Amino acid sequence: MKTPTSSTPFSPHSTARTTSPSPAPVLEVRGVTKTYPGPPSLTVLQATDLTIASGDQVAVVGPSGSGKSTLLSILGTLDNPSTGEVLVDGRPVAELSERKRSALRSQRIGFVFQQFHLLPTHTAVENVATGLLYSGVRHTLRRRRAAEALEAVGLSHRLTHRPTELSGGEQQRVAIARALVRNPGILIADEPTGALDTATGAAIVELLSGIAALGTAVVVVTHDEEVASHFARRIRIRDGVVTEPAAQAIRPNKPLRQGASCLA
Ligand SMILES: Nc1ncnc2c1ncn2[C@@H]1O[C@H](COP(=O)(O)OP(=O)(O)OP(=O)(O)O)[C@@H](O)[C@H]1O
Ligand SMILES: [Mg+2]
Repeated sequence: MKTPTSSTPFSPHSTARTTSPSPAPVLEVRGVTKTYPGPPSLTVLQATDLTIASGDQVAVVGPSGSGKSTLLSILGTLDNPSTGEVLVDGRPVAELSERKRSALRSQRIGFVFQQFHLLPTHTAVENVATGLLYSGVRHTLRRRRAAEALEAVGLSHRLTHRPTELSGGEQQRVAIARALVRNPGILIADEPTGALDTATGAAIVELLSGIAALGTAVVVVTHDEEVASHFARRIRIRDGVVTEPAAQAIRPNKPLRQGASCLA
C-alpha cells in the first residue's frame, strides 16, 4: 500500500503531535448540557467539559440510554446544546450561521455510524466520492481521491463492488473512507463495530486507531468495554454524567500499530 503523502486523504493535519507536547485542540465543549423540554423536562447530559486534540483516540463508553449519542451529536455540531459552547478549531460554533456551520462540519468532521448508510445502487468508489460532493472538487478528481481513500482502508481490490457485494466489515471500511476523503480533523463514530462480529470489529478498531496515529482525532462511542480498551482515552458516561478517569493502559495484547501501514 502506498504511504500517505500530502496529496492523499489521510495526510496528517498538523505536525504538532510530533513536534509539540500539546497539540492545539480541534474540538472543545465547555459547560455543555442537554435538556429536552418535555413535559416533563429531561436533562440527558449534565454539565460537560472536554478537549480533544489532533491525533487523540477517544472512546466514549456507557450503557444504553446514558447519553452517548446525545454527546456525539453535540460534538459533531449536528445538535445544539441547551447550555454551554462548542468550539471547532477554537471557533465557537454558535456564532456561525447555519450555512457556515454546515460548511465547517463537512470540511472538518467526518461521521461513521453503526449501520453503514451506503447508497445501494452505487459502487464503493462512487459511495466514497459522495463524501466530496459540494466540495468544489471536479468529478474525475473526486473519483481519484475516492479510490485513494479506499486504498488507504485496504479496499483497492473492491472499488467497483456495490454494498450487497461487500462483507459487513468491508462496508464499514467504505463508510470510513467516505468520512475521511475530505481529510477531516475529527472523525466521529457511533457504535462503528455494533453490526460486526468480534474479529471484524477488532480490525475496524485497529483501522480507526491507525487513522488517529496519522493526526485525525478519532472519537468512538461504544457500549463495549473490549472495544474501548483499545483507545488511549476512555470517557465514561452514565445517566448523562461524563467522567474521564486518569490515563489507563491500552490493552497490551493488541498494540496499536503506528503509521500508514495500519490502514491496510
Ligand atoms: N428527543 C428526545 N426527547 C426526549 N428524550 C430524548 C430524546 N432523544 C433522546 N432522549 C433520551 O436521552 C437519553 C440519552 O439518549 P442517547 O441516544 O444519547 O443514549 P445512548 O447512550 O446513545 O444509548 P444507546 O446505547 O441505546 O444508543 C435517553 O434516555 C433517551 O430516551
Ligand atoms: Mg446511541
